[in-house]
Amino acid sequence: MIPESFIQDLLARVDIVDLIDGYVRLKKAGANYSACCPFHNEKTPSFTVSPSKQFYHCFGCGAHGTAIGFLMEYQGLSFVEAVKELADRVGMQVPEPGRGDAGVVRGGARRLTEIMARAAQYYKDQLKQSRTAIDYLKSRGLTGEICARFGIGYAPDGWQNLATVFTDYGAPELVTAGLVIENEQGRRYDRFRDRIMFPIVNPKGEVIGFGGRVIGAGEPKYLNSPETPIFEKGREVYGLPQARQDLRRDNTAIVVEGYMDVVALAQHGVGNAVATLGTATTTSHVQKLLQQVDRIVFCFDGDAAGRKAAWRALENSLAALADSKAIGFAFLPEPEDPDSYVRQFGADALRALIAQATPLSDFLLRELGQRCDLGTAEGRARLIHEAKPLLKRLPTPLLRLQLVKRLADASGFSQAEVERLCDIRGYAPPAPARAPRQAPSLARILLRLVLFDPALAGRIPLDALPSSQERAILAAIQACLPDLPARPAYAQLRECLRGHPLASQLEALAGELLDADLDEAYVHGEFDAALARLAAADRRAAFAALQAKARQFGVAGLSEAEKREYLALLSQQKSS
Ligand code: UTP
Ligand code: MN
Repeated sequence: MIPESFIQDLLARVDIVDLIDGYVRLKKAGANYSACCPFHNEKTPSFTVSPSKQFYHCFGCGAHGTAIGFLMEYQGLSFVEAVKELADRVGMQVPEPGRGDAGVVRGGARRLTEIMARAAQYYKDQLKQSRTAIDYLKSRGLTGEICARFGIGYAPDGWQNLATVFTDYGAPELVTAGLVIENEQGRRYDRFRDRIMFPIVNPKGEVIGFGGRVIGAGEPKYLNSPETPIFEKGREVYGLPQARQDLRRDNTAIVVEGYMDVVALAQHGVGNAVATLGTATTTSHVQKLLQQVDRIVFCFDGDAAGRKAAWRALENSLAALADSKAIGFAFLPEPEDPDSYVRQFGADALRALIAQATPLSDFLLRELGQRCDLGTAEGRARLIHEAKPLLKRLPTPLLRLQLVKRLADASGFSQAEVERLCDIRGYAPPAPARAPRQAPSLARILLRLVLFDPALAGRIPLDALPSSQERAILAAIQACLPDLPARPAYAQLRECLRGHPLASQLEALAGELLDADLDEAYVHGEFDAALARLAAADRRAAFAALQAKARQFGVAGLSEAEKREYLALLSQQKSS
């Protein structure tokens, strides 16, 4: 756990405008900055960054967060990774809990990425020197420009070439990085020899691994970096940083199987392709991609192996799906792969295949249907049996309902029976849309002002707020105050409430404030006035209740305490 106080210090030092401007060109718009939203596809900017309150908010898709939240969303980082990266930027050291060995891994990881960067540079330099390697890449239709974009290089033949780059060739990190292999006799040699080198780059732009292809024929065709502390194959995809812009523009990711497929598609202007790294598609791959696009199309070979890979991808995609996201499957005619297909038939033909991809639900039903003999009762029962684990994994109520309906049709069971057999609950329609906007209540005005200066929350009596929801928000803010610095900003409050069930309510309130750039004196004046009005409204209500009671039972019907309160309120009413 990173201490809350560190997060607060970090947010106080980072400037969110600087940070985001490094990724998305921001334009000044009044007190704020704006841009087309990097998190959804749009033509007019609805993404706004507030320098005074240090948060971003998109009126189009609801994306909202602090500097930490931005890095998490944009680079697909975990909370800890995002904090670490921000800390690096402003030269702060993330405190390590407990013993120091976690720090060793961290320091080690940094050294590993440096090693990988140096190796990548070396391989790139070597490519320029090798006629054979250049000719091979040309024969595969690649230009120098596209090779440069993907950082493609060449590892020359020879056992210890890397000793020219790393004078400490005996260093254990070179083995950890997967660049050097040590045999039983303790002799060391380069893992990659006489191979075209494809660097695998993470979203931060760091080289974390390599794939190396033999030139021409040979075994193994591709040699890959082993898993290392900085390279986990089940989480990384090849070509993501290069694809980022096109992913955003097309709002679709094409997932292919090979390095060459990604590069060849880019060569033909199809820049939104990425590849898994010689492994089956994992849920984590799909999650990572769906953070950036709403649609994924798996584009695999049309042979049995391709269909099998597609089915694995389907199984592992289910848990990452949402009703707003779509997954499709495009199968190439045998014996093509995306590289050979695009070279032979061109980019438009490939785009057409992608556009007409089979939706996940169709693919799922078709494959299951082929496995079960739907002409027999046993086969239809088996269909439901096979569908059950898949349906249970789906978090999407609408898509699941569609599948249930179609399974019911195919099996002859009723929809309710399919739901019962598959042990899933029926779909409950969402609550009706909320009532149209009204003028904000006094309580809401107070809460908005609190977002300008969270310390003010301490001055509002909880029971002064009429609705339980507003009380809950206030209570949550008040509970944060001890963890926050003396003069916290909104962003610090927002991070303190990370993961809190009411966080989205807070975001909605903050969104209402974006256009207001109020100075402190004004905020405090308004706050005092609103608090006074709230208290006055409270008193009026109490007075009205006592007055009603007095009318009904006479003043004698009031208790001594009520009489005193009645008189006090009466004199206040007169004086105000
Ligand atoms: P393919 O065998 O389909 O190669 O492997 P390819 O992408 O068409 O490559 P070219 O066109 O022959 O150059 C697809 C992916 O499977 C992994 C690699 O990630 C490769 O890109 N693979 C394949 C390996 O890791 N090792 C191998 O020996 C072969
Ligand atoms: Mn190929």
